[in-house]
Amino acid sequence: MYRMAPVLLILLLIAFSLPAQQQQPSTPTVQKSSAYTAIPVAAAREPNPVKVTPESIARAKKWWALDCEMCHGKNGNGKGDTAQEMKLAIVDFTDPATLKDHTDGELYYIIKNGHEDMPPEGDRIKAEEGWDLVNYVRSFAKKKAGAEAKPDEAKPQ
Ligand code: HEC
Repeated sequence: MYRMAPVLLILLLIAFSLPAQQQQPSTPTVQKSSAYTAIPVAAAREPNPVKVTPESIARAKKWWALDCEMCHGKNGNGKGDTAQEMKLAIVDFTDPATLKDHTDGELYYIIKNGHEDMPPEGDRIKAEEGWDLVNYVRSFAKKKAGAEAKPDEAKPQ
C-alpha cells in the first residue's frame, strides 16, 4: 500500500495541473488603454454635471463638426479625413465596447487636455461644452445599438 503512495501523488499532480494549463489560453488578452492611468483619479471620478438632453446634444454637434469630425468621423466611427491622412489609430465610438470601461470624467479630461495624438480643446470650449461633448461621444454607440444588433457588420454610411 505504501509503495503506491508516490504513484498516487504523481497522478494527483498531473490531474490537477492539466486543467490549470488548459485555462491559460482562454484568459482574455484584452489589455487596452493602460494609458488612462495618466488621468488623475479625482478627474476620472468627476461626475458629469450636464444631463443628456436634446439641447446638450445639439450644443455638442456644433463643436463636433468644428473640432472633432475631421478625425473621429461624422458618425464617430474614427474614419475622418484627417485621421486617414495622418494614419491615426482612432477608436470606433459606434462600438458600445469602446467607452464602456471609461468614466465620463476620463472622457472629459481627454477632451480638455488631449491624449497622445488627440489635441486638447483647452480653453476653446467652456466646461459645460466639454461635458456636452462627452454626452455626444457616448450617443454614437446608443444610436447604433438601437438601429442594429450586430456590431461587426459593415456600417452603412
Ligand atoms: C487630430 C485628430 C483628432 C481630433 C481633431 C480629435 N481627436 Fe479625439 N482622439 C484622437 C486620437 C488619435 C485618439 C486616441 C488617443 C490615444 O491614443 O489615447 C482620440 C481619443 C479620443 C477620446 C478617448 C477615446 C478612448 O477610448 O481612448 C475621446 C473621448 C475623444 N478623442 C473625443 C474627441 C472630441 C470630443 C474631439 C473634438 C473636440 C476630438 N476627440 C478631436 C484624435 C483626434
